[in-house]
Amino acid sequence: MSVEARPKRMSVTQIRSRKGGEKLVCLTAYTSSVARLVDHEVDLLLVGDSLAMTVYGFDSTLPIGLDTMIAHGAAVVRSTEHALVVVDLPFGSYQTSPADAFRAAARVLAETGCTAVKLEGGEEMAETVAFLSARGVPVMGHVGLTPQAVNALGGYRSRGHAPGERDKIMRDGVAIAEAGAFSLVIEGVAESLARELTGAVAVPTIGIGGSPACDGQILVIDDMLGLFTEFTPKFVKRYRRLGDEIRAAAREYAEEVRQGRFPAAEHTYGARG
Ligand code: KIV
Repeated sequence: MSVEARPKRMSVTQIRSRKGGEKLVCLTAYTSSVARLVDHEVDLLLVGDSLAMTVYGFDSTLPIGLDTMIAHGAAVVRSTEHALVVVDLPFGSYQTSPADAFRAAARVLAETGCTAVKLEGGEEMAETVAFLSARGVPVMGHVGLTPQAVNALGGYRSRGHAPGERDKIMRDGVAIAEAGAFSLVIEGVAESLARELTGAVAVPTIGIGGSPACDGQILVIDDMLGLFTEFTPKFVKRYRRLGDEIRAAAREYAEEVRQGRFPAAEHTYGARG
């Protein structure tokens, strides 16, 4: 297939141009099968480090490493053709210096084929965002409730209700946008803060526990499908209860195997002539 004939993926420029326009629809995806199913329904797929919890069963995003993020990122890119794919830089791979962040991001882009990386943090990460952006790495920022900082924040509570914290998150978002991020995730903050920050930056904001005023929304796919029920934040809307469906299917299968009803004749190979 020639380069021209290939289906076109959403680009960073297209995402950026949606500021104040048609809402951006974003979901997380971690596996080939699910990514393929949702690819054409969304603008952007995030291979989030939330996979540490949803796929690997950890109780935070901290234990997941770069190699694992790359393996899932590559699977999602291979299985999609429409959505822009962003891969999270995991905890410990980028906070030490802009150069370390570049090394991690370069591996992610080269080994997965994704278009951009996401990193968490505010003013303290602005230099890194500028460093990456100037060297050809599109960066999505992430401010507010930043799960990689769960130990420092003292939990997953929503943020930006007190004036001091609110001002800090505003400064964080503005610093990351001005440093060159092409979009900004705002997670788990007071609605009025997400709204104000959306008005204050020139790039699209993507809310998760943010505000309907954000330029787009993202949800963790396991949450919106009802697969992950251990902890359900206020901002999650469950569009399906697939967890119940899976349990029911497994129960039915178990019953049929135990009763000798599965496999039936149509599921077995007859003698070949
Ligand atoms: O890791 C993740 O899934 C995320 C989203 C919650 C934005 O960062």
